[in-house]
Amino acid sequence: MNHTDLEAWLAAQQPAVADALRHLAQACVKISRACSRGAIAGEGGQSTHGAVGEVNVQGENQQKLDVYSDECMAEALAQCSSVAGWASEELEHPTVSPNHATTGRYLAVFDPLDGSSNIDANISVGTIFSVLPHLFPGAEPTEAAFMQPGRRQVAAGYALYGPATVLVLSTGNGIEFFTLDPVSSNWLHTRSGVQIRTTTSEFAINASNQRFWEKPIQRYVSECVAGDTGPRARNFNMRWVASMVAEVHRIMTRGGVFLYPRDTKEPRKPGRLRLMYEASPMAYLMEQAGAKAVTGTMDLLDVVPDTLHQRVPVIIGSSDEVERIIGYYVDPN
Ligand code: AHG
Ligand code: MN
Ligand code: MN
Ligand code: MN
Repeated sequence: MNHTDLEAWLAAQQPAVADALRHLAQACVKISRACSRGAIAGEGGQSTHGAVGEVNVQGENQQKLDVYSDECMAEALAQCSSVAGWASEELEHPTVSPNHATTGRYLAVFDPLDGSSNIDANISVGTIFSVLPHLFPGAEPTEAAFMQPGRRQVAAGYALYGPATVLVLSTGNGIEFFTLDPVSSNWLHTRSGVQIRTTTSEFAINASNQRFWEKPIQRYVSECVAGDTGPRARNFNMRWVASMVAEVHRIMTRGGVFLYPRDTKEPRKPGRLRLMYEASPMAYLMEQAGAKAVTGTMDLLDVVPDTLHQRVPVIIGSSDEVERIIGYYVDPN
């Protein structure tokens, strides 16, 4: 089968948004190449594999590939005339574009390497990104310029570096899949209008946190685990990759529900995942695929950020299951 490519699809999008996506996709090609080279990545005997030996702003052990991926994104965006600034999981403060701070109409937010604790084990990782309007074009973007709810996104996407590298994009008119041809480095358009099935018998949650979960989640998971002799009267299957991109892509392709709820493990943090560069872009993509994305008590896309790195509870996926969980937040018994 002959496929058209990313350029052909971008040609039909709003030009400044297309330009941002083109540069983000170029960075993902470089990151994909570094991931696929594993322990042999890097030049002059300097491997880009392994831990940096430092803790990032999130309190996590930073991997060399976290840093490299962040640099790839920054390098690509610095060349993009439609982006005035960007914010990254790996950096405490936003970056003002060196060349386009006062001309760019958009802001980019990204998780340069999602699932990076998996990289040494050769498990799938990815990149998540979001494009927001710059509400004060002409002025250099400050941190306050990024404090916009996910509903304002003009585009979002992710790249998954798995057995194949795929790019999933939306500009608000449904979901597109592109697959990277590793020989030509071209993104070929492989699916359009992807819709997530509404019913599912597959859920994903880090069950080691069970003792910290809220009551609605305790109820939901215990009913799934009870299987065909429990109140759900059917058997469920469970998956946990610990790479959100891989979990979301599995849900895109065969349905399912993914939960990283609020828990009492670290009482000052409402959940594990970051609103700006994990929850919001994935929520946007979920809604574009006909699925749902909530905190338990509200739509994720309506959460207004207070700080760049704030965390949020995440419950996303097949609408029948997410709606059931919303019901359990209304009545946990
Ligand atoms: P990152 O590697 O960008 O810091 O994100 C990891 C996130 C997400 O991808 C995944 O779903 C979750 O952390 C895994 O959490 P556990 O360590 O609790 O499994
Ligand atoms: Mn991290
Ligand atoms: Mn992540
Ligand atoms: Mn990351």
